[in-house]
Amino acid sequence: QDATHQQTLRVLLAGPRGFCAGVDRAIRVVEEALRRYGAPVYVRHEIVHNRTVVEGLEAKGAIFVEELDEVPEDGHVVFSAHGVPKSVPVEAERRNLLYLDATCPLVSKVHREAERHFAGGGPEQRHILMIGHAGHPEVVGTMGQLPVGAVTLINDAEEARTIQPEDPTRLAFITQTTLSVDDTAEIVEILRERFPLIEGPKREDICYATTNRQEAVKAISHESDLVIVIGSPNSSNSQRLREVAERSGATRAILVPKLVDLDWSVLEGVKTLGISAGASAPESLVQEMVNALSKKYNLKIEERIVKEESVSFRLPSPLSGEEK
Ligand code: F3S
Repeated sequence: QDATHQQTLRVLLAGPRGFCAGVDRAIRVVEEALRRYGAPVYVRHEIVHNRTVVEGLEAKGAIFVEELDEVPEDGHVVFSAHGVPKSVPVEAERRNLLYLDATCPLVSKVHREAERHFAGGGPEQRHILMIGHAGHPEVVGTMGQLPVGAVTLINDAEEARTIQPEDPTRLAFITQTTLSVDDTAEIVEILRERFPLIEGPKREDICYATTNRQEAVKAISHESDLVIVIGSPNSSNSQRLREVAERSGATRAILVPKLVDLDWSVLEGVKTLGISAGASAPESLVQEMVNALSKKYNLKIEERIVKEESVSFRLPSPLSGEEK
């Protein structure tokens, strides 16, 4: 078909989008482990919440497992970017497994904050409120840094309003790294109002990548008839991006794991399409989507970058030493 007869579609690409430094590092950990030790390398849980990434690593020889008992003696095992409860490395050591920890350094930072507030269970100990989503592996990992009962999960504003801590003067809060910036600010405000002595991080624990991606999607949403967020349904930061887009003025916002999952009928009547991608979604999925669109529409692409990012993380030991 002659491109001049094609309908014009304006595409706004949100920037930054896609991979964050923690995801990039976690994938490199698995790739480097495969290179050094050979296949198979076991990975406990999805290394990052993206099927395309997982399948790509499986093709190279990674085997994904739910628990360590699925890893044979002397196996190499990688812990996912979301972090793991303390019991997991302990169990790996007991089983003589060679483990590599791909926990994002920004998640590890929250782990250390939690430990600081716990203060070894001594007289300085504060009870910790963790703002996050029940069942997410990051929440399980962070709460699992401390003994059961040391941390209480706050899922939403309602729980922040109703929680009755034993000692309201000895509290601290921490958060999951991939939450909605706006929702979390509201919850923190409620907690600070109810418990003025609560301690918290100077800047909240939501990471730079989550913050920037939400800001970028906000910047394109009010102009968009539809926003497509490329990302997996189990990816917390991708889900939040979709919600932020919807609340920031996009007529409609949907999560699409990859091109094959796109229901083309959603594009009917759309003049301006916004596109973003979660922190665990590879840029190749965005390009695949844009290419497919360019075959059906006369595309006018504008990239809107609200912030440049230059964060990158070194590989964990023992992989860090001889990194190329
Ligand atoms: Fe880390 Fe934030 Fe990415 S915590 S894994 S940099 S989304």
